[in-house]
Amino acid sequence: MRPSKLYDLLAPVYGRVMGPLLEEANERAVERLVGGAPSSALEIGVGPGAALAELARGAWQVVGVDVSSAMLREARTRVSQQGKQARLARADALRLPFRAAAFDAVLSTFLLDLLPEPDLRPMLAEVSRVLAPGGRVVLGVLELPNPLVAQAWMTVYRIAPDALGGCRPVDLTRLLDGQPLRLIRDERLDGWVTMRITTLVKVTA
Ligand SMILES: C[S@@+](CC[C@H](N)C(=O)[O-])C[C@H]1O[C@@H](n2cnc3c(N)ncnc32)[C@H](O)[C@@H]1O
Repeated sequence: MRPSKLYDLLAPVYGRVMGPLLEEANERAVERLVGGAPSSALEIGVGPGAALAELARGAWQVVGVDVSSAMLREARTRVSQQGKQARLARADALRLPFRAAAFDAVLSTFLLDLLPEPDLRPMLAEVSRVLAPGGRVVLGVLELPNPLVAQAWMTVYRIAPDALGGCRPVDLTRLLDGQPLRLIRDERLDGWVTMRITTLVKVTA
């Protein structure tokens, strides 16, 4: 199923079911992003807005995009319930409707995991494009803690990917090769699966 359709269907329950499981990783990712003291931040694949609402606590300008209209509604509600402000738009991570170097921080958690293999490098190239030189990007991806879990996960993924939200682990290290991004921190949070939180800075040419 297309991600926009799948996540439209998942939107009413996603925050309650997955929110607590991803909470620590999203909190850590936001912490790392705001550590760069941004004045503007973009989140790609906001889902129900857990990280976006945290991001919107600061004085910086916050923009969030997602392909799912239902997820964007959830995110809008969450942000406004907390009395915060963020601009939200329906947009594809591969064609971001923003000029080059428009943001000095970019966040994306648990989105790369569900993009098809040929879209992974183009998505990272879009992230690099909209990020200002010296700007910070934080990426969150899932990792599977041991071969047994990995085997079980991949078996389900091959039979019914939608049951896993279309997500499978991706090798971020390999994908970052060739991007104008310098690694400044790589962390792993252990849990039901391992969450990898990678912080990078855009290098100037
Ligand atoms: C697994 S959820 C993660 C949501 C949120 N980042 C979190 O950690 O809770 C992935 C989100 O990415 C969105 N998404 C999927 N493909 C996308 C794309 N090509 N561009 C933008 N958003 C996309 C989905 O609609 C969904 O809301």
